[in-house]
Amino acid sequence: MEVPEPAEGARLLTDSFGRVVRDLRISVTDRCNFRCVYCMPAEGLKWLPRAEILTFEEIERIARLFVERLGVESIRLTGGEPTVRADLGVLVRLLAAIRRGDGKPVEVALTTNGAKLERMAQPLRDAGLTRINISLDSLKPARFAEITRRDSLGEVLRGITAAVRAGLEPVKVNVVVVRGWNDDEIVDFAEFGRRTGVQPRFIEFMPLDADGTWSMDKVVGADEIVAAIHAVYPLEEVAHGPEPASRWRYADGAGEIGVIPSVTKPFCGDCDRVRLTAEGSFMTCLFARDDYDFRTALRGGASDDELAELAAMAVGLKWAGHRIGKVDFVRPRRSMSQIGG
Ligand code: 5AD
Ligand code: SF4
Repeated sequence: MEVPEPAEGARLLTDSFGRVVRDLRISVTDRCNFRCVYCMPAEGLKWLPRAEILTFEEIERIARLFVERLGVESIRLTGGEPTVRADLGVLVRLLAAIRRGDGKPVEVALTTNGAKLERMAQPLRDAGLTRINISLDSLKPARFAEITRRDSLGEVLRGITAAVRAGLEPVKVNVVVVRGWNDDEIVDFAEFGRRTGVQPRFIEFMPLDADGTWSMDKVVGADEIVAAIHAVYPLEEVAHGPEPASRWRYADGAGEIGVIPSVTKPFCGDCDRVRLTAEGSFMTCLFARDDYDFRTALRGGASDDELAELAAMAVGLKWAGHRIGKVDFVRPRRSMSQIGG
């Protein structure tokens, strides 16, 4: 295959610590059909008015710029809950058609709570979705309802099955582990993965909840999670690249798990992500205190060169990493659902 010349003006987004941006996370809505206690208050948040949310055309324009000219290799759609945005498949199709500077297709991934997946998994796959992460914090119906404030465990489980059937493998299941809430289900999730072929990814609880319930003693560390599973199903560490999850495979060959030590062993040194919020703010970290208003630039008629310049400036100022657990840590102004997970 002929490799096209890099687009004119192609450059990599490199920060002052030498990290290169490869992954763009795009929140497509701040709304959600769940109200997870660690994320949103029961009554919801103040939703953004429609006019303040980027249109598909605006999202596509930014994605195209980042992928074609700025070295981004993968796009992940997030929310809120991305599947509550109407016609999500149309956006996936637009994004999946974008080619990288080296001619390869961009990867298009989705993080979802899974409640609407039973019907959406196959159409999303057909539209070009390549990977999926489904959030699920309890396999017990009553507890699931307590955590999400919705009685939807059955829907999510059917959504997971549909994602596997649609061939979105490996389907990853994100489990935020919170001490005293679901830390007794770590081995249950391991068994769920071994049985169904999905890959559980255990995530340390971060101070991003809208209610402010986070405290260090609610964090279950990655080492403790791995030890709990290893005691029942022996694990071996898998060598892995720059992605934050440490990977472990079962010694008996029954699959793999991931553990994301966001708090106890921050992976900021290898971070290759940037984020675009639903209203078009560009953020270089979940915990960043500055954001850059791409929407105003877009709607004010900025050229691609000007947008690229804004992105390069923002990335140039990206900090070394978050300070969770340190005295100088400042909670971000937005919660997870308002930034995009
Ligand atoms: N800490 C860790 N992970 C979180 N998520 C949401 N809030 C938090 C938090 N405070 C997870 C969701 C989802 C992903 C987008 O982020 O469960 O899997
Ligand atoms: Fe919705 Fe995800 Fe927040 Fe739960 S964690 S309320 S599913 S955005």
